Amino acid sequence: SVLEARSMEAVAKYIKQNDVKRIVLMVGAGISTSAGIPDFRSPDTGLYANLAFLDLEEPEDVFDITFFRENPKPFYALAHELYPGKYRPTIAHSFIKLLYDKGMLLKHFTQNIDCLERQAGVPGEMIVEAHGSFASQRCIECKTPYPDEEMHKMVEQGKVPCCGCGGYVKPDIVFFGEALPSSFFDNRSLPAAADLCIVMGTSLSVQPFASLPSLVSDGVPRVLINMQKVGGMGSRPDDVLLLGDCDAGVRKFAKAMGWEEELEALWGE
Ligand code: OAD
Repeated sequence: SVLEARSMEAVAKYIKQNDVKRIVLMVGAGISTSAGIPDFRSPDTGLYANLAFLDLEEPEDVFDITFFRENPKPFYALAHELYPGKYRPTIAHSFIKLLYDKGMLLKHFTQNIDCLERQAGVPGEMIVEAHGSFASQRCIECKTPYPDEEMHKMVEQGKVPCCGCGGYVKPDIVFFGEALPSSFFDNRSLPAAADLCIVMGTSLSVQPFASLPSLVSDGVPRVLINMQKVGGMGSRPDDVLLLGDCDAGVRKFAKAMGWEEELEALWGE
């Protein structure tokens, strides 16, 4: 194996000795929970456990395109809560920005729709928003874009925005039953070119995103920062598991690299 031990210290040594600068990150809702945004699948606090008020048969229906076409109201009841602008990036988001500032970030793959990576200062071209985002919206029938201002108003009032053609308007979030954006497929070769992989705050339970870590080349260390072990992480000799919360994990990472103060300063800005 490439690492001397399955520890953060061994990863730090590997980074320094190999002049690592092609880090690929793969993240999910767990990096935003400390900002106050619920994740999806945590047993008590996750969104899917708390949608009883929407009266759905399956909680995932709220993000299902067939369901939305029939009844977009549950989604808009939720959009009201999730709409970006109310939340501050976490130190885990600042950690991603720090990797970028150091010229070590090859690509950031996110399943999150909260835009907090952008808010933390990571440039848009470094981010693959694999499940889309709230940044734009359009009619689900004729695909005509819908103005941001109008969208803000409608979401604030908890109303369903409609297109002139009569179709419902939906943010450019990838729903179940929809294709991922082309940027996901265009960048899917990058994990194989990475010299380090960091998986953070995701249950790795939704395909095709969930298979990204398996595209990392053998012999390239993969670090998991998550509450629990997920996917196939831990199955390779160079996998390092930092089990616990993301903020503590990135602090541990930064400490091993000697970046502690820089990271705290960046987050405090
Ligand atoms: P999940 O809710 O499935 O998984 C979040 C993971 O992060 C779980 O393993 C949690 O234990 C962990 N976690 C939560 N808070 C944490 C913290 N503070 N520190 C460390 N770990 C923490 O969320 P995703 O994996 O992002 O798709 O879900 C994937 C996709 O499923 C979402 O993009 C969404 C959803 O349906 C769509 O809506 C299309």
